[in-house]
Amino acid sequence: MPTDTLTITDNRTGKKYEVPIEHGTIKAPDLRQIKVSDDDFGLMTYDPAFMNTASCKSAITFIDGDKGILEYRGYPIDQLAEKSTYLEVAYLIVHGELPTKAQLEQWQHDIAEHYILHENVKKFIDGFHHDAHPMGMLLSTVGALSTFYPEAKHIFDAATRQKQIYRLIGKMPTLAAYAYRHSRGLPYEYPDPRLSYAGNFMAMLWKRTGAEERYTPDKALERALDILFILHADHEQNCSTSTVRVVGSSHPDPYCATAAGIGALFGPLHGGANEEVLKMLREIGSKDRVPDYIKRVKSGEMRLMGFGHRVYKNYDPRAAIIKRAAYDVFAVTGMNPMLDVAIELEKIALSDDYFVSRKLYPNVDFYSGLIYEALGFPAEMFTVLFAVGRTVGWLAQWQEMLLDKEQKIARPRQVYTGQRKRTYLPMAER
Ligand code: CMC
Repeated sequence: MPTDTLTITDNRTGKKYEVPIEHGTIKAPDLRQIKVSDDDFGLMTYDPAFMNTASCKSAITFIDGDKGILEYRGYPIDQLAEKSTYLEVAYLIVHGELPTKAQLEQWQHDIAEHYILHENVKKFIDGFHHDAHPMGMLLSTVGALSTFYPEAKHIFDAATRQKQIYRLIGKMPTLAAYAYRHSRGLPYEYPDPRLSYAGNFMAMLWKRTGAEERYTPDKALERALDILFILHADHEQNCSTSTVRVVGSSHPDPYCATAAGIGALFGPLHGGANEEVLKMLREIGSKDRVPDYIKRVKSGEMRLMGFGHRVYKNYDPRAAIIKRAAYDVFAVTGMNPMLDVAIELEKIALSDDYFVSRKLYPNVDFYSGLIYEALGFPAEMFTVLFAVGRTVGWLAQWQEMLLDKEQKIARPRQVYTGQRKRTYLPMAER
């Protein structure tokens, strides 16, 4: 009879061990019993970059990277992008179920209550240099919120946790808009809770102070932005989410953990890729220069930004939805001339053996920058938009980690390869 166990023979000692298999995994600590002597530490696994290590159990987001499937709480991403709103999806991600009408109204109200920032945050943002990168401003201001809400450290009190979740989801667009306005030298615009989540964000970004009574967002653009937030809402154990979990595991308040997540997202291999895609498309400039650029990528000179993914070895389902949404946006804003270059790049890459054999497909960042640019965002804001959408995922994962009895403070092991037991040499003898 087959059993759910793995039998291991240690050829160093000839001993056999049987370890249980659960959910297609073995527990790494089960390997510690495998020793060559009593004082041996026991066998560990070596897995730089967590290529094949599950660090948690999670019921939030499912990805099948080979098939290109993404589901939040079991609902396929394309259905959510087509039928839902960002705040409804945010409720689903945090609570695990779609809300009733009354629950959704209450949730929207509770988040809108927290759009507003303490006036001192404005002064804090004023301290940044005029050309400060908005991701740096976002990271710092989210970290600074920790000092405004000292009660947030009571992370095992459910009501306190819930309040910080409202605050962070509510304040993120306001912080992002203020960072944008600061870089432009524009006065900050207070939030308008009568507008939708995306609509209010657009108002805080683009309302012409003094010239406009009320900002009325264009419906198609408002919807496109909302879809982009939905597509970025969560993506299981990616670099920034793992960072939020690791930092959160030492039990600071969620502002500290979220600020750390923003730092991880900033990198060009993660959320920063959307900014890099636009730089790349500009550098290429026109369709006829695409083959030459591909040649340079293949020779290892640089990576094709917006291509490839650790998990997806198929078309990223989010990229397909974004590509379609791009046309709705361009119908209002006019065509982005870089779209032609992007389409040509995708076409050539998808038929080239270098990309095919490595299963490199467009990821979420490949087309999102084109939409953001058409909406009027400068490239430095692209990753900020990613962070606004991803905040709910970070928070849901942070809360799940805190309530998971199997979790402890994160603390990986190492394989030490340095020197040992050296004797200190005085300066004159070196
Ligand atoms: N362009 C050219 N070659 C690539 C690319 C790329 N974008 N991505 C991977 N490769 C090659 C890589 O050189 C390697 O080739 P070889 O086997 O000959 O050495 C092979 O494909 C496997 O790459 P890897 O670096 O082992 O793959 P990884 O899983 O560690 O990296 C990645 C994943 C997303 C960091 C990488 O694909 C990449 O750098 N992409 C460009 C940056 C990007 O678009 N990032 C956004 C990711 S999606 C949004 C998000 O999660 O933030």
